Amino acid sequence: MSDAEQGNLFDLSNFNTSASKPDFPPNLIPTDAKVPIPPGTYQTMTEIAEHCNRCHRCELGNHRTNAVVGRGNPQADLMIIGEAPGQTEDETGLPFVGKAGQLLEKILVAVQLDSEKDVYIANINKCRPPGNRVPTTEEMNACKPYLLEQIRLVDPKIILLAGATAVKGLTGDKRGITKIRGEWMSWENRLCMPIFHPSYLLRNPSREQGKPKWLMWQDIQEVRAKFDRIRNGST
Ligand code: URA
Repeated sequence: MSDAEQGNLFDLSNFNTSASKPDFPPNLIPTDAKVPIPPGTYQTMTEIAEHCNRCHRCELGNHRTNAVVGRGNPQADLMIIGEAPGQTEDETGLPFVGKAGQLLEKILVAVQLDSEKDVYIANINKCRPPGNRVPTTEEMNACKPYLLEQIRLVDPKIILLAGATAVKGLTGDKRGITKIRGEWMSWENRLCMPIFHPSYLLRNPSREQGKPKWLMWQDIQEVRAKFDRIRNGST
């Protein structure tokens, strides 16, 4: 793409196009997924949020009330990545604050994890898909640079991927969640674990042994144990 073509993809109203800056200037807003957002573009979550709230890299930008970037401790050792905002998240601008979020909170509390202190929570997509449909591959890819920047800034020791869409969106792994949940995997040298999405648990409320809620209890205990081992300097 030529410089002029790239320029057309941005809001250039407050930018001198003659300046030959190779990197993406943080005050410019990506309006097309073709424009790269290189690693190191953002220094803070606030900068990411400013861009996300004006982003049109995919058509989800036409529907949002608020972009939903993240909440919790941006220096946490544990990062949880979900799929995309729902209605409550779109209204508030905060991830996992609706029914699924309340269940996620209970799961964390059950193993004494504080969602404000111990965890940073984000999503694959920052804007709500209409009718809560699953985001398309194109939409996930368009939004991915923001997530990669969030992961770079948080630098978590452990990433939990809630649901198959989160696994696919981050790692490209298309396997079903029931196959891979609870298994540690490595992505970009980072320790990740796929877990059930809390919405799936809401639809499958049985606590019987072997059922999704019971399996989640096993998984979150394993996560807590690993979290403690990492904190104590062992693995
Ligand atoms: N589901 C998600 O995946 N993310 C949210 O933020 C809320 C519900």
